[in-house]
Amino acid sequence: MCGIIGYTGRREAAPLLLDGLQRLEYRGYDSAGIAIVDDGAIHVVKGAGKLSVLRDGLEGVYPPGRCGIGHTRWATHGKPTTDNAHPHLDCTGAVVVIHNGIVENYLELRAELTARGHALRSETDTEVLPHLIESYMDEGADLLTALRHTLGRIRGAHAIVAMSKREPGRIVAARAGNAGGVVIGYGAGEMFVASDLPALLPETQRVAFLADGEIACVTADAVEYVTAAGAPLQRGPQVVPFDPVTAAKGAHKHFMLKEIMEQPECIMDTFRGRAIFEPPAIALESVGMSDETLRRVSRVMLIGMGTSMHAAMLGRSYFERIAGIPAEVDNSSEFRYRDALIGPDTLVVSVAQSGETVDTLEAMADAKRRGAPQITICNTPGAQSTRVADGCVLTRCGPEVAVASTKTLTASISALYLLACHAGRARGVLDDARLGELIASLARAPGLMGRVLALGPKVQEIAHALAGYEDFLFLARGAQYPMALEGALKLKEVSYIHAEGYPAGEMKHGPIALIDRTMPVVAIALDDGTRDKMLSNIEQVRAREGLVVGIITEGDAELRGKCDEALELPPYAPLLYPLLSAIPMQLLAYHIATTRGCDVDQPRNLAKTVTVE
Ligand code: AGP
Repeated sequence: MCGIIGYTGRREAAPLLLDGLQRLEYRGYDSAGIAIVDDGAIHVVKGAGKLSVLRDGLEGVYPPGRCGIGHTRWATHGKPTTDNAHPHLDCTGAVVVIHNGIVENYLELRAELTARGHALRSETDTEVLPHLIESYMDEGADLLTALRHTLGRIRGAHAIVAMSKREPGRIVAARAGNAGGVVIGYGAGEMFVASDLPALLPETQRVAFLADGEIACVTADAVEYVTAAGAPLQRGPQVVPFDPVTAAKGAHKHFMLKEIMEQPECIMDTFRGRAIFEPPAIALESVGMSDETLRRVSRVMLIGMGTSMHAAMLGRSYFERIAGIPAEVDNSSEFRYRDALIGPDTLVVSVAQSGETVDTLEAMADAKRRGAPQITICNTPGAQSTRVADGCVLTRCGPEVAVASTKTLTASISALYLLACHAGRARGVLDDARLGELIASLARAPGLMGRVLALGPKVQEIAHALAGYEDFLFLARGAQYPMALEGALKLKEVSYIHAEGYPAGEMKHGPIALIDRTMPVVAIALDDGTRDKMLSNIEQVRAREGLVVGIITEGDAELRGKCDEALELPPYAPLLYPLLSAIPMQLLAYHIATTRGCDVDQPRNLAKTVTVE
């Protein structure tokens, strides 16, 4: 997760920026840099590796100036080199930008800018931003207007911070989508900008958070807020307590909501440096097994518990459809009693965010005794599962504090997708063109997830209306079936409402008997090849007076007309569509639970890590 800091005021900026970045080191990074505007020029200092290398390199001689921005980068596009590190300049050194997110259409913008004579020097997607801003400023726009125009040209989700030497003392910061936060810190005669509260809290506790589509224009004594369309916004600071829990929760009331909102960033962090865009390649650093072993296995057995098992169910589709290997999935605790016929020809892939779930560890131990090669997907570096397996793919979500898993679900799904791509490559079934498509598709996830997160207020409205019901049914087919199970699990866990997830085809084989006006049915009916069959299921629910909440594809007027409530998701690749549909499931559970006054972060009877059988 990239870190962002900015300062404008009366003190020397560079030491403050380096201290702020140091407080963001926990987010992880591979290069860092700062830019200071002073005396009509922009001074940039940056480098690969740790912040301490950058700091030591300066030998106490900091670039002078009282307005600057700083960044810690985790590479997505291009290696972690000095050239690719942020901040990035335009052609003439008049504009400087730092950025968190992915410019999804950077290749076409890069081509356009190059054709217009701009000289881009790095391999990053970010570098198109200063050049776009430069071109708008050259046409007469001020920095704020140029940033607004730039936002209109780029796709994806972003936090962008920029300065120009033509407007010394000013920093502009924008949030578009949910690829990371932007928080403005108010001081006395000085102002701060950051990606996260910990960067600011020692300096000020008076802060304001930017929402999706908002921009702040900051000088030492004032801040002006506008929408991306340029309409003014009224916004004042709030005071946050200076304690680690508040700092960790950021703008959110609960960890569960914070972790739901973090998902675009977590996905990006999980694939950064592993999904290589040009030429397409997969670089999984710690998979712990040779291509020869991956070629030799004749099937994959995926295991996990709870939410992790739901991710594993998608892993099965990925291994079969991407890597061409027969795959099955089982609940770890049941796998142990199956006396499964596995051996060196079966690759066991376990999923466990904690890496300490006893049933999964026991199943892994059994698989080990039988000589099966193993890879684990885990969010906790050094956890037991990572020590037992031959290799691992770590999800990079940071700690998940809420008991109900959210961000580790979608990050695990992404890690399984990468692993299947890796296996497909090793087995020679994925050519460059297909791998390129698969990677490009995953790279769209953070931006699209940001759009789905923006449905929050609508989900909250629906949740208010449904919070009094005591039974729910979740229906889906194909790749969405695990998300129906997950929707039911989330709702049970945090709101204590009885909920069942079913493959929709199974409905007529029993569950349909339950349906009447007291049973809301959440139906995932997306345009992924299952939509028409789901439409029939929805008709059957309506015929029994069931209340239908449809998760449908944007613009599907026919389905919208059949649902009591509809949440519309952007079109997406069927294999990865669950990354989007997971979000309304999580938000619905969260808002129903909070409406009912439940303790969402620590639901009754549940433990974050289940170490008893
Ligand atoms: C999910 O919300 C639950 N807290 C639970 O089902 C969890 O997914 C399960 O206990 C597995 O945990 P793990 O991923 O740490 O193995």
